[in-house]
Amino acid sequence: MKEEPKIHKRVGRTLNSMLMKLNYTNTSFAVSEEALRAHKALAEQAYRTTVSKSGRGNDFLGWVDLPAGISEEDFATIEQCADRLANKSEVTVVIGIGGSYLGTRAVVEALQHSFGAMVPQQRPYLLYAGNNMSEDYLHDLLEVLDKKDYSLIVISKSGTTTEPAIAFRVLKQHCERKYGLEEARTRIVAITDAARGALRTLATQEGYDTFVIPDDVGGRYSVLTPVGLLPIAVAGFSIRKLVEGAKAIRAELLSHPAFADNPAMQYALVRYMLYNQGLKVELMTSFEPRLFYFVEWFKQLFGESEGKEHKGIFPAGAIFSTDLHSLGQYIQEGTRQLFETVLTVEKAHHHVEIPFDEKNTDGLNYLQHRSIDEICHIAQQGTCQAHVSGEVPNIEITIPELSEHHLGELIYFFEFSCAVSGYMLDVNPFDQPGVEAYKRNMFLLLGKPGVK
Ligand code: PA5
Repeated sequence: MKEEPKIHKRVGRTLNSMLMKLNYTNTSFAVSEEALRAHKALAEQAYRTTVSKSGRGNDFLGWVDLPAGISEEDFATIEQCADRLANKSEVTVVIGIGGSYLGTRAVVEALQHSFGAMVPQQRPYLLYAGNNMSEDYLHDLLEVLDKKDYSLIVISKSGTTTEPAIAFRVLKQHCERKYGLEEARTRIVAITDAARGALRTLATQEGYDTFVIPDDVGGRYSVLTPVGLLPIAVAGFSIRKLVEGAKAIRAELLSHPAFADNPAMQYALVRYMLYNQGLKVELMTSFEPRLFYFVEWFKQLFGESEGKEHKGIFPAGAIFSTDLHSLGQYIQEGTRQLFETVLTVEKAHHHVEIPFDEKNTDGLNYLQHRSIDEICHIAQQGTCQAHVSGEVPNIEITIPELSEHHLGELIYFFEFSCAVSGYMLDVNPFDQPGVEAYKRNMFLLLGKPGVK
């Protein structure tokens, strides 16, 4: 009798066909089925800790139920505000750092035209500020804003983060000079804590429209709150479909408490086992350059959640085939300390094929009439085979296409896996005490009042 192909045994549980798929077949040479079975209780315990909200940091588990709790009224309020800003802006600047901007950028850059700034837009083009301290960056942004009609969305949960606060002070004054005080106030929306922080005080004093970041949702888990939903809606993408995707996978993950049925637990346990074998770096890759910022979002989510108490996988990122020409050598033959998680998009939205060329000087006629997407998938297959033969375990996560729905699935899937993963590592996945060290030194050096 023909043996069942190995791949079926290790593909994560087949979810509803609308949903993402997990395939960890290509980790089998490093993590056996027996080893996974032997440790599955650990993943199931971490899962229970997450869903029962009984573990460390449990006052920050609001994201677990968030997608199911967004009401029609919530959507309508966000969409109305987004349309109001969109009607008066060619550009909207999203001012925020870390969890206060990466989720938006991950979704918007995955969905928008690859050269969005160069083509006529129905909706405002999003620009970003407050995520660095470059004077030249801010100068160049002001130069652009001199010539464009714009609005500002300033986002900070604490309301006191230095980078966005500096950028907002500069951009607020620019906006007020350009439009006058009254009009500027209608072009600024603040998203922050319900009551605390300098941004809340400022927004109240100025009379800005505001949205609240719920107390029980931390920055890196906040993309499905107004933090992400408002700017994504301004850019013209469907926040309803995004949330639908998150809701759909949430229902699957919450209704399957057994390891064998739950891909988030499977992903979390496979990477945990790889980590325990000395593979301390997870390289998230994709052959889709539009996912560059999704990978950045993932890096923050896992890096800030797991990297503490001298533990945790280092989350790295690469976009292929671009980075095969820079990091490919290291991945294939460098220090054996990494595994790959590949984000695959099954189908491109558009069709471009290789034309026939009579002279065939470049020798490419063997590819004539094949689509770029088909060639890309074959390149991906070849890359996976090469890296696996170079002893780099390979986890694959596949979505059918780039859409709001599937991005919503991925967001919730990774948030959930990250919580389970953090609990398996026995850390608090929802705090980030280590981020304070650089801030304290910087404030001391800058002479911030009250810092000793
Ligand atoms: O995930 C987190 O909590 C952080 O990355 C924050 O999002 C980031 O530091 C920005 O903080 P805030 O929104 O308070 O300005």
